[in-house]
Amino acid sequence: MPVWFGSTLSVVISSSELAKQVLKENDQQLSNRRRSRAALKFSRNGKDLIWADYGPNYVKVRKVSTLELLSSKKLKALRPIREDEVTAMVESIFRDCTNPDQLINQMLTNTYDLKKKGQNMKLRDYLSTVSFNNITRLVLGTRFMSPEGVLNEQGLEFKDILGNGVKLWALVTLAEYIPWLRWMFPLEEEKYVKHNERRDKLTKTIMAEHTLARQKAGGAAKPHFVDVLLSLQEEYDLNDDTIIGLLWVGHCDSSRSMAVDATRQKKDANFKAFITEKIENQDAIMQERFVEEDIDMKGHDYRLLPFSSGRRICPGTQLGIKFSNVDVGSSFAPFLVGTD
Ligand code: HEM
Repeated sequence: MPVWFGSTLSVVISSSELAKQVLKENDQQLSNRRRSRAALKFSRNGKDLIWADYGPNYVKVRKVSTLELLSSKKLKALRPIREDEVTAMVESIFRDCTNPDQLINQMLTNTYDLKKKGQNMKLRDYLSTVSFNNITRLVLGTRFMSPEGVLNEQGLEFKDILGNGVKLWALVTLAEYIPWLRWMFPLEEEKYVKHNERRDKLTKTIMAEHTLARQKAGGAAKPHFVDVLLSLQEEYDLNDDTIIGLLWVGHCDSSRSMAVDATRQKKDANFKAFITEKIENQDAIMQERFVEEDIDMKGHDYRLLPFSSGRRICPGTQLGIKFSNVDVGSSFAPFLVGTD
């Protein structure tokens, strides 16, 4: 179905047959993303991966991501970090469940419900914390949060930059789709310049810390992204801008896995099905159909494409699935997580 956003023609695809035509049969012709003015600023005119046009530089950076950062072998090497973080989450849930102060706090803030005594636990906050710690450790090799859940100075700056980035993205004006109106809505260039400067400053500080640590350790690179990228910088001819772009994409994307609301699932056996169902249809809970069919979600079955398909399929697919299904799902396996 064609839809005009201002003077920009878009096409909405609403069947698996059409999705196949777009993402398989015409994938090559449709493999560039439209860049808004904000996207141009954030990506320095498409010098990262997400906003790069399909071409030799894109192919090189994509190869680095797929082979050097997110391959099965690399993810296996990062497994101890994920296990560590999931264990920390289960421990903190246990601590909070059994901590009398926590119960008193719930009573004081009116969130303690006698009728539901022993049943309710809001998992969203724990899932968002585990996701945050996981991704910052995998990508930046740094845990910004203390075991008590307090962010250090770098962590506060990091979160603030992420939040500011989201705000700047949200500043989409009508003029984005009606170019001749842009004189009325000029882009606030200095806000983007300042944002990019802050992001680069923090990332370069972390990069320098890792370079120093590597030198001290006799050059051995750890498996997290920042070390891998720095140690391959010459081999792949990567400049600092590309490295920074790759490091930040993981953080922005990982927030999607936080959207999973585990409290709505019926039992752990349905966890995978629950996640796939949640992405496809927010309103109707019919996860059984995916259990029965064991549907593929890695881009081969055009009825369900949470990670898309074709040339630009999400390179973080394996990590996203591993994290949501295996790590988080299996850690809830001993519990019966129920709805009201
Ligand atoms: C549950 C978690 C995730 C979901 C649902 C998801 C979904 C997606 C989707 C739908 C796309 C667009 C693909 C297209 O345009 O055809 C995408 C692109 C992308 N994702 Fe993810 N993603 C997830 C996690 C991740 C993670 C953990 C990373 C990296 C660490 C990542 C990195 C990227 C990158 C770099 C792209 C752009 C790829 C390109 O243009 O070549 N994603 N993702």
